[in-house]
Formats: sequence, structure tokens, C-alpha cells
Amino acid sequence: MSGLKIVTIGGGSSYTPELVEGFIKRYNELPIKELWLVDIEDGKEKLEIVGELAKRMVKKAGLPIEIHLTLDRREALKDADFVTTQLRVGLLDARIKDERIPLSHGYIGQETNGAGGLFKGLRTIPVLIDITKEMKELCPNAWLINFTNPVGMVTEALLKYGAIDKVIGLCNVPIGLEKSTAKLLGVDFNRIRIDFAGLNHMVFGLNIYLDGNLVTKNVIDKIIESDASSEVKNIDEVKWQKEFLQGLEVLPCSYSKYYFMKDYMLNNELEKFNANGTRAEVVKALESELFELYKDPNLDIKPPQLEERGGAYYSDAACRLINSIYNDKGDIQPVDTRNKGAIADLDYNSAVEVSCIITKDGPKPITIGHLPVQIRGLIQQIKSFEILGAKAAAEGDYNAGLVAMTINPLVQSDKAAKILFDELLEAHKKYLPKFELK
Ligand code: G6P
Repeated sequence: MSGLKIVTIGGGSSYTPELVEGFIKRYNELPIKELWLVDIEDGKEKLEIVGELAKRMVKKAGLPIEIHLTLDRREALKDADFVTTQLRVGLLDARIKDERIPLSHGYIGQETNGAGGLFKGLRTIPVLIDITKEMKELCPNAWLINFTNPVGMVTEALLKYGAIDKVIGLCNVPIGLEKSTAKLLGVDFNRIRIDFAGLNHMVFGLNIYLDGNLVTKNVIDKIIESDASSEVKNIDEVKWQKEFLQGLEVLPCSYSKYYFMKDYMLNNELEKFNANGTRAEVVKALESELFELYKDPNLDIKPPQLEERGGAYYSDAACRLINSIYNDKGDIQPVDTRNKGAIADLDYNSAVEVSCIITKDGPKPITIGHLPVQIRGLIQQIKSFEILGAKAAAEGDYNAGLVAMTINPLVQSDKAAKILFDELLEAHKKYLPKFELK
């Protein structure tokens, strides 16, 4: 490869300047010749605004990266080396429904967890499967790096129903945990290493090292002593219960609070919902502010306001992954990939989020063995939810979808599951052509 071609689908996203900044910072190691930002007709205006900002950023950096803006996905995909996906089927209005409908019935309304997460998966997976089919035809050697949520269920589906093997799911939560741990210990981020295992948004740090020495217990003690913390901006900083965290013995991510602190999280969400609406509505307002800033012809950097979004720093994760594949680095990074026996308690072919060695052949999961019993059952339950959700999405299987909803720990009632499933199905039917309304 000389001069890379990178394609970003959902290129009109407000997060794109972050990705562009990441590529600019690493240009010496990652010589990108072309960056294609692709969107759909409904995203055209955003694509043009963010695309012009990307061009100004590259110009400011004095780099010969060509930025192409297009609504023609096939044209963009031709001969690509890496394809990144950050699309949102139904835009933020669909996310509002994913959050609002469960909350209005007294259930957690969250973009990637519970009922809302399931429906985001049902809308997204068929689109991603189509993209893998086009990639097989137009750029069969390219890697697909997917950030589109719910990353766990989407990766599960692509490994099973997609047309290509070179698929990696990626999230900012593990890198966020590395950063927050470094901050807690007051050390540089590069001195921290964490053995991650679990699933997307249900990942745990089993062992934490500082300069190669095991410090897991010290980190847990520090979390207990510290004020509340969260590695992502979209989840409130809440203090863990001391005895619980001591007993857990591993580092949890903030998303696990939806399960371990279910009552608190639900009440907190309901209070905010009643006061300001859903997180999606807050994000929608933040997005319009961001796009107003992006329109300024004098702006040629990523504005700091973008860091208020939950996905902040995801480009660090994306760029370091692409860099390690391209340069065959053999370093360790947490990604979503096929288990291949690394976690003994999950299917060989299922998607897991786990520390991997990254080479030009992609991620090789590091063997974990059995998960600690404290987290094993919950992870297995969420994996069953993801497998059924992926099947429902790929095959338009109502029954599988309903069971997925029912076994999800944030629902767990056949009656509630049916009410939520049918209401969400009706609300999103435009984006769920595989389902016949029953
Ligand atoms: C977290 C997650 C991302 C998610 C984001 C939502 O960081 O890891 O997967 O996209 O939050 O943030 P938002 O600002 O859209 O609520």
C-alpha cells in the first residue's frame, strides 16, 4: 500500500473532525492519500459543512490528504484500504424514540442498552450487512472498522451474517478507562496497560498494570476513595458502593452501572427525562451548536466543545488501530472481534471485546480463560441478548427479537417486552423493512 484510501460512511457526523484530527496527528506513520466522507441525501448538508471543515484542517496542517465528499457509496468504496462506519439509521430522531419510549413506560431508555439498544441494532445491522456485500465486490482486501452502535450486537451480526471476514468493532470505553485510570494514579497514559475482557459496553479490566506491575487493587481502592467518576461524558459520575467494588475485584465500565445500579440509574434518567427530555434531545441541541461552529470559514481545528459528547476520543482508538494494522505493529489494543476461544465461557465464533495483539493480519485475542464468576453470568446473559438481536435483525425474526427483549436484564418481563417491542416496532417501521408488523 502506498498512499492509503480511507472511506468513512456517515462522514457527515459531528464526530468527523475528531477523526480528521487523529489522521493529521499520525500522518508520518499513516500516509493517507484520500479520505472519502460518504453520507446519504438526508445528511447532505451536514456532510458539506463538516467536509469543508475537514478540508480546512488538512490545509492548515499542510498535508496532501485529499478530502472527497460524496453521496455515492459505491464510488467511494472502490479500492479502499480501510472503511470506517459511524452512521445513524434514522438520525437523532430515531434515537429520541429509542430513549423516550422505554422511559415513558418506566424502563431504562438508552441508546445501546436495553430496549432502545435492541432497536438501534435492528435498524443498523441490515445496513451494515449491505455495506459488507459492497465491500466484498469493490474493495475485498479492505478492513471494516465499525463504530456504529450497538457495537457488540453489530459485530456479532457481521461476523455471522456479513459478507467479509475483515471486520473489527471499536469503542471509546476501553481507551476511556485507560485514560481515567492514568488520571486517577496521576501518571502518563502510556504507562498504563489493562487486560480487558467482556463485551462492548460490558467490558471489564481484569488486571491493571503500571509500568508492568500489577496495580488492580490499588486502582480499585483509589476509585473507592475518589469522588465519583465516569470515563464517558454521557453517563453521570456516580460513586460505586465500596463493598460492592471490593467484592467485584475487577474494574467495571460506566455502562455496567445500568445493571449494577439499576434503580439509581433509572430514577436518575427519569428525573432528567422529566426535566430536559432524553439524552438524544440534549445531544441534538449540542449538535446544532457544533454545526454552527463548523460553518465558520475561519475555523480550522476541532472545536473543544466536541469533547462534551460521549464518544470523545474515539478517533484515538480508531487511528491507533488502523496504524497498527498498516504498520504491522504487534502492540496490544482492546477491540471487538471473534472470540476464537480467548474467553472460555463464550462461543468460539461470537464477538467479544478483549485485549488483542494487532498485526497486519488484524486482531489476535489474548487468551483470558474463564471469566471471574462475579461477572460471568451477566456477560453470558448479555451475549445471548446480542446473539438473538443479531438474528432478529438479519432475518427479520420477530420472535427472536421479542425473546432478546425479554431476557435483557433491563426489561425481563414478557409483558413489558411485548409492549415495548410492539411500540418501538411501530415507531421505527420505516427503518425495519424486514419485519412485517404483527
Ligand atoms: C459513549 C459510548 C459511545 C456512544 C457515546 C454516546 O462514549 O462509548 O459508544 O456513542 O457515548 O454519546 P452521546 O454524546 O451521543 O450521548
